[in-house]
Amino acid sequence: MTVFFELDAVTVERAGRRVLDGVSMRLEPGERLALVGSNGAGKTTLLRTLVGLEKPKGGRIVAFGAERRVEKDFHEVRARAGFLFQDPDDQLFSPTVIEDVAFGPLNLGLGREAAIERAETTLARLHLGHLARRVTHRLSGGEKRLVSLAGVLAMRPDVLLLDEPTNALDETHLARLTDILGGLDLAMVIVSHDRSFLEKLAGRAMLLDQGQLVEATLHRHAHVHDHLHIHAADGTHGHDHGHVDAANRPPSPPDETR
Ligand SMILES: Nc1ncnc2c1ncn2[C@@H]1O[C@H](COP(=O)(O)OP(=O)(O)O)[C@@H](O)[C@H]1O
Ligand SMILES: [Mg+2]
Repeated sequence: MTVFFELDAVTVERAGRRVLDGVSMRLEPGERLALVGSNGAGKTTLLRTLVGLEKPKGGRIVAFGAERRVEKDFHEVRARAGFLFQDPDDQLFSPTVIEDVAFGPLNLGLGREAAIERAETTLARLHLGHLARRVTHRLSGGEKRLVSLAGVLAMRPDVLLLDEPTNALDETHLARLTDILGGLDLAMVIVSHDRSFLEKLAGRAMLLDQGQLVEATLHRHAHVHDHLHIHAADGTHGHDHGHVDAANRPPSPPDETR
């Protein structure tokens, strides 16, 4: 099967600064890759580069079996790789939910009726049918995130690029999002600081640091320390913590991540 993405020594500059400095990675069909790194490390830049929104200064991008260089090469990539933006307000722009979700399919060339039908099916599949006639800008943050995801999924992508999808989600919407993503048979690149979310969804991890992308391990271990957690009073909701450490570095001290 064709590799979905293959980056070879890709270098990207933003505002004159080298944000990605010779980054190489592969994403195979069905793979779910966690992408971690501190704020400003270049995670969003890397996702944007995959779909041609940043133009590399050097290196090579192969996507869905073909090398992609110029803008028109990326049109097919954007149709097949669904990008969930960090801020849902950047994603939603139609007045109503149904129109927003139908926009992608319309753009792919479906007729109006078929696009609306596709949008309705997608919303129903995500149990969001009740939001179809709602005004987009009046949705809650969590609803906006799920509707944005519906808009991306309505295009029937082969791979999802998820940029901090759990940001600003309450526990209910986080659980809904986790369930939805967990039930999808799609390749994903998941940018997140939420270790437990990544643990549930990702099969492997890479860490972006100082422009370099390195393999990282995704694992779970116990902690002995105090910090505040809110639990259901009946104690049925246990919890544990996940950590991501670079595979080729010494393990981080236990409290580094909080
Ligand atoms: N629109 C932009 N114009 C210029 N530089 C940017 C822009 N967006 C981000 N950058 C810079 O690119 C670097 C990487 O940013 P970004 O990819 O957004 O990081 P992350 O998603 O890991 O937080 C940062 O130094 C940031 O300041
Ligand atoms: Mg970002």
